[in-house]
Amino acid sequence: MTAGSRKVTANSTVYQLYPRSYRDANGDGIGDIAGMTRRMDHIANLGVDALLVAPLFPSPNADFGYDVTDYCDISPTYGSLMDFDEMVQVAHARGLGVVVDMVPCHTSIEHPWFRDHPEWYIWSDVDGPANNWVACFGGKAWSRDEQSGKWYLHSYYPEQPDLNWRNPEVVEAMTDVFSFWHKRGVDGFRLDAVSRLVKDAGLRDNPPLTNPFPLWENALQAMWDQRRYHLDQPDTFPALARLKEELDGTYLIAEAYLPNRDLAPYLEHVDAAFTFELLQSSPCPHRLARILKESASLQGLAWTLANHDFGWITGRWGHEMARLAALLVLTLPGGAYLYQGEEIGMTNAPPPRTSQDRAGRDPFRHPLQWTRDGGFSSVEPWIPYHDPVACNVEDQDKDPGSLLSFYRALLTLRPALAGPLDEITVDESCLSYRRGAHRICLNFGDSPVSLPPHHEVILTTGDATIRTTLGPHSGAILAL
Ligand code: GLC
Ligand code: CA
Repeated sequence: MTAGSRKVTANSTVYQLYPRSYRDANGDGIGDIAGMTRRMDHIANLGVDALLVAPLFPSPNADFGYDVTDYCDISPTYGSLMDFDEMVQVAHARGLGVVVDMVPCHTSIEHPWFRDHPEWYIWSDVDGPANNWVACFGGKAWSRDEQSGKWYLHSYYPEQPDLNWRNPEVVEAMTDVFSFWHKRGVDGFRLDAVSRLVKDAGLRDNPPLTNPFPLWENALQAMWDQRRYHLDQPDTFPALARLKEELDGTYLIAEAYLPNRDLAPYLEHVDAAFTFELLQSSPCPHRLARILKESASLQGLAWTLANHDFGWITGRWGHEMARLAALLVLTLPGGAYLYQGEEIGMTNAPPPRTSQDRAGRDPFRHPLQWTRDGGFSSVEPWIPYHDPVACNVEDQDKDPGSLLSFYRALLTLRPALAGPLDEITVDESCLSYRRGAHRICLNFGDSPVSLPPHHEVILTTGDATIRTTLGPHSGAILAL
């Protein structure tokens, strides 16, 4: 394999691995790097191009790794830098690229920078919040630092003070961090919360909301934010351009929590951006068609239906839609990101008795179900299993009719789907679109629909003998 063949691009398919819940190799109930390395074949056999690894850095875990105390090390919970290097090697040997989730917007409040370089953070110059901004998980975006008595900005939990990207020393320090991992051989970076990287220089109040923001958010935020000054600032883009240059053009994907239409300026500087509108859509063919039509002109969208913040698509659309969801996400142009467990139809669990995440995301983070008795760890996992008897890798691996086999078939076929997204139509409950010489049809309704004229049925979600009709909740790829 050449280095070129493992390069991650805007069109790659990527497995989003949540290390804490992928596989526990040392028997402490928490997933680790050795677990990832030893179970790399599962990802390679699926047929994706790369894996995205959620943060492995040392962290007090107020936000499970998204509050970092050292960007150039690995948390002992997950292993060591040596374990990481071995994991990357094993991934590369299987032809998989490795994308690292980087958290440039904020550190942990326990990061030494917060005490050693307070000027690298954003402070109020009054005794109280500098403005009316609210934090993403609720409450005010300002907290008082007990030690200095001053108020600092945090877009997320109070344990995650925001870095000031208007300070050139911050830009330099974070660029060094990216370079550290780049030199270690990783193939790209996810830019966590990047729409909040740079804030208004004057820290002005956000005006009250007049146009509803089209994505989900907490109620307090929905009331106040006109989305003006606390995020999506024009100065973000030169910062991204510089980063891209410093990293020799390595793959960057933006996690910018914005509607698709606002992703265009990000896509001028990075390779790809996640699409939250698709992830948050209902299984309504008209709504989906509108999202696809509005996005057709954007190059570099990374389609995804699930992640560690919003859970699995079966939790929102129901199990009967699992194959349709797979067919949708893997037949659109651009990139596609699958969340671990999606390939076997894992679903959101009830909240565990002992809560881990204060923002209520435990139901989306229980362990990957390897076998009927769980198979994630030799001891009790950090979040209990959900339904491993009904849904596990081992059973589906052997079954040619399983969802896992369907994902593999789709991923094998995907490179043949060249051509732009075209002729997006809805006929009754059936969403359909063309990709070059193929047409994809997805019936979201409870009644059968007729298939449009075609030459051959290449792949279906169910009955392989269908020729003229699609059953309820079924889809097909047609050769035209
Ligand atoms: C991103 C991550 C989320 C985290 C937040 C703050 O949205 O996906 O898990 O809590 O950023 O870093
Ligand atoms: Ca472990």
